[in-house]
Amino acid sequence: TGPETVSPTGAPTGAPKVAMGQQGEFLTTSAGARLYDTDHSLKAGERGPTLLQDHHLREKIMHFDHERIPERVVHARGYGAHGTFVGYGTGANVCKAAFLGDGVETPVFVRFSTVLGSRGSADTVRDTRGFATKFYTQEGNFDLVGNNIPVFFIQDGIKFPDVIHAGKPHPDREIPQAQSAHDTFWDFVSTHTEATHHVMWNMSDRGIPRSYRTMEGFGVHTFRLVNAEGETALAKFHWKPKLGVHSLVWEEAQMLNGIDPDFHRRDLADAIESGAFPQWELGLQLFPDTPRQTFEGIDLLDPTKIVPEELAPVQPVGILTLNRNTMNYFAETEQVAFHLGNLVPGIDVTDDPLFQARLFSYLDTQLTRLAGPNFNQIPINRPHVPVNDMFRDGFHQQAVHAGVAPYRPNTLDGGNPFVAKAEDRPFVEVAQPLPKSAKVRQSPASFADHFTQPRLFWLSLTPVEKEHVVRAFTFELGKVYEQAIKERQLRVLANVDPTLCAEVAKGLGLPVPATEARPRKVTPSPALSQIGQEWPTD
Ligand code: HEM
Repeated sequence: TGPETVSPTGAPTGAPKVAMGQQGEFLTTSAGARLYDTDHSLKAGERGPTLLQDHHLREKIMHFDHERIPERVVHARGYGAHGTFVGYGTGANVCKAAFLGDGVETPVFVRFSTVLGSRGSADTVRDTRGFATKFYTQEGNFDLVGNNIPVFFIQDGIKFPDVIHAGKPHPDREIPQAQSAHDTFWDFVSTHTEATHHVMWNMSDRGIPRSYRTMEGFGVHTFRLVNAEGETALAKFHWKPKLGVHSLVWEEAQMLNGIDPDFHRRDLADAIESGAFPQWELGLQLFPDTPRQTFEGIDLLDPTKIVPEELAPVQPVGILTLNRNTMNYFAETEQVAFHLGNLVPGIDVTDDPLFQARLFSYLDTQLTRLAGPNFNQIPINRPHVPVNDMFRDGFHQQAVHAGVAPYRPNTLDGGNPFVAKAEDRPFVEVAQPLPKSAKVRQSPASFADHFTQPRLFWLSLTPVEKEHVVRAFTFELGKVYEQAIKERQLRVLANVDPTLCAEVAKGLGLPVPATEARPRKVTPSPALSQIGQEWPTD
């Protein structure tokens, strides 16, 4: 054993053998002085009082007092594992990212999470699940920060604080911990009907996954891909579990919350430990990069919409295998910092207003959560390529930088760091024409249809799945105190499907709302209505 083989700013050269802070045979202070007793404080005589001069006592308690860091403002409860991603080479014609190359093996770290519960909440609650993957590629880190539900509650990131405030426990009572059964949540989603699609998925069996190993993952937003020729395509990322998609039934989920609140993390850790390594295929839905950024009438910049796989099949481009549990939960799962801006050449952002806000949010929150700007030097976040970033100093700086001139060009330090060729830059900045328009605070008309896709989702379910959705709405809305909120949500459901609305109203003992409260503002695309007709309506 020896010190961790990590260079100050570079990549780990191997898995840590013994964690720093745990070397040598003797118990020591943090400054390395050997200790002979850690059970008794230094006192003036056997019966005290305790002496302030006891450095070991003060240091030991001081460090303990500061062990906690803030939990994530969302996705606080999570569980991570290491693995590898192997590219099939099938994506290479649309995306030049090296990790998609044929047979290219890339180390990864994945963190699964619930969204609303605190760090100590239960695993099998009804909620969305995070599915965040850090690829340590040969071109730098690529983070795919997705969920197990393909759409999101809001179309513009400026509402993220609002939807999360509505979903988190009520400020007065701190109730409930991790479920959507409360007034503020239903108040928000019934007044922001763009949330309807996500809510339908949450109330379906997708909201209570059987295991992280049986969840799909979605990048949600549309990304822009660039190939070696500089051609672009729009794309959505999908993770497909090799074990298939499975959920719990509500009663199982409820019992597990009591019997084994760690059910999902135990399941993942046990599976990996026993060699049953879970796998997911990464797939792409591809769309032409047209100026309108729509596909078959669906606005690709609207994160509350999916593109049905019947219209754009998911094409596999590689496989993820999780094969190593964490050695230390705090150092790995808690300190990992995902960020959508961690991109590699070949993958770029789009103008989806939710995506754009996220690009600000993650770095910003991590400044507080990980106490300063140097969190990419924490071992779990270090890229596996050399780092030469000209950033200096700051809280928790680990590097001892040489030279005097952290700017370029300079004429003092001799070697000016090279800059990459334009075509190799990670923030692709593809020359997209900017629209000529005045500044506006409004959404495009194509964002206004909030009900066609929720209806499509409802119609795609089997009778048993529909029954589960009805029971979930009935249970969750049954917990709401304000009658007006229940009634408003029933009017939302009337816009999705009259049977769904009537069944939930019956369960709640409330009258069925008479008519559609909100006319749809936009006609569904021809392609979508075709699919709706083909699928069973009951
Ligand atoms: C954390 C997904 C929207 C802000 C996370 C995590 C996931 C995730 C998976 C957990 C990361 C981890 O395991 O450490 C998503 C998805 C979204 C979305 C799929 C929509 C499609 C947003 C938006 C914002 C936001 C719109 C803000 C504008 C945050 C913050 C964290 C977080 C602040 C905590 C990060 C940390 O402390 O490290 N999100 N999120 N998210 N998300 Fe999102």
